Amino acid sequence: MMAAKISPRFLINEIRGSVCFVQRRHRVKTKWAGSRPKVPATDLALQHFDATYGLQLGDLWPSVRIGMLSEKKYGALLNNFASDSDIVSSFHSQGCRDFISAARSTESQDPELHDHTAAPLSSNIQCFVFPRGDVSRFKPARPDSNGLLSYYLLDAASVLPALALDVQPGHSVLDLCAGPGGKTLALLQAQAVRFLWANDLSGSRTARLRRTLQSYLPRELLTEDRVYITSSDGRQWRNKDEHKFDKVLVDVPCTTDRHSLTEEDNNIFKRSRTKERQRLPLLQMELLLAGIQATRPGGDVLYSTCSLSQLQNQCVVEQAVSVAQKEMDITVKVQNLSSFVQLFSHTFHFAPQPAVGELVLPHLCANFGPIYMCKLQRIS
Ligand SMILES: C[S@@+](CC[C@H](N)C(=O)[O-])C[C@H]1O[C@@H](n2cnc3c(N)ncnc32)[C@H](O)[C@@H]1O
Repeated sequence: MMAAKISPRFLINEIRGSVCFVQRRHRVKTKWAGSRPKVPATDLALQHFDATYGLQLGDLWPSVRIGMLSEKKYGALLNNFASDSDIVSSFHSQGCRDFISAARSTESQDPELHDHTAAPLSSNIQCFVFPRGDVSRFKPARPDSNGLLSYYLLDAASVLPALALDVQPGHSVLDLCAGPGGKTLALLQAQAVRFLWANDLSGSRTARLRRTLQSYLPRELLTEDRVYITSSDGRQWRNKDEHKFDKVLVDVPCTTDRHSLTEEDNNIFKRSRTKERQRLPLLQMELLLAGIQATRPGGDVLYSTCSLSQLQNQCVVEQAVSVAQKEMDITVKVQNLSSFVQLFSHTFHFAPQPAVGELVLPHLCANFGPIYMCKLQRIS
């Protein structure tokens, strides 16, 4: 039997057909694209950070990157209001040390490291950490006989903004973005605050803040004339002229870099939140401006984030300083924190001299941060 002769036209049609077939399948796939597994937001965050922080941090980025992708290290902020007398000796027996008292003794031994514009570090705030390279974990805190917890676990670097704010006896303090309350608690441990106003936009975060304070502070301190808690948009503080504070903490919402690399939940790198993420620097600047307006002349504002992003850190500060001057006739001056951070250089890795402010870099041996902070004094 003769083999059927296949005409070239047939072949062409076959090829076209198969091409058509492939294309049709492809079209169907595109239609179903919505149900295909999405790129995890944590991957999007890593791609974004590789592109931006690779440039920003250069040779430092690979080690910071490994740090951020590894388990973070905690500090145990001691609760001075609890009465667990054994807790300090228990920390010591585990090999932990209070990194703040270590910094205080460095400060007293080397007068050049003491910032003469600020008082010595508060002796009331104590935060225990395991030694460098030791990745042991703290046990959850237990309540004392009054039901108050003896310590609060947090990124030890997040105590630095509260310390740098340098609250002195009799000061009134505003914590503009306070939820869930780690830094509020650190501010109150100094036992110097006359009045603290803690605010957060989110109702659920404010509720968490309230619960945190109730678990750590005696009732007599949680009266409205000592600690006042509100849930409102911090940007509206610009209109509250009647309240001026000695110290204002502006710990803004940011890309929370470590969280964005490790948790899908509530991740700001989800595609659906792109616009919100892009608007962050504007929101941050508005919050900082509101904080500046709430500060009395001569008082201090501390701006902080938990991001490495220059756009959310120094750019926001520079922009706010300029807008405050030009549009509000308020002069603010960036404070030099270099002596302050040197006191803590045995515990944290700091970025080498950012132009404005100070930045704690994550590192495998001391896996705290990132924490950016910049202190501003309102001059007029
Ligand atoms: C980085 S967190 C603050 C962490 C807190 N200071 C602490 O140490 O536990 C930023 C907070 O800002 C709050 N926030 C976001 N937008 C705000 C706004 N417009 N006004 C006040 N708070 C806002 C968020 O709800 C979030 O709790």
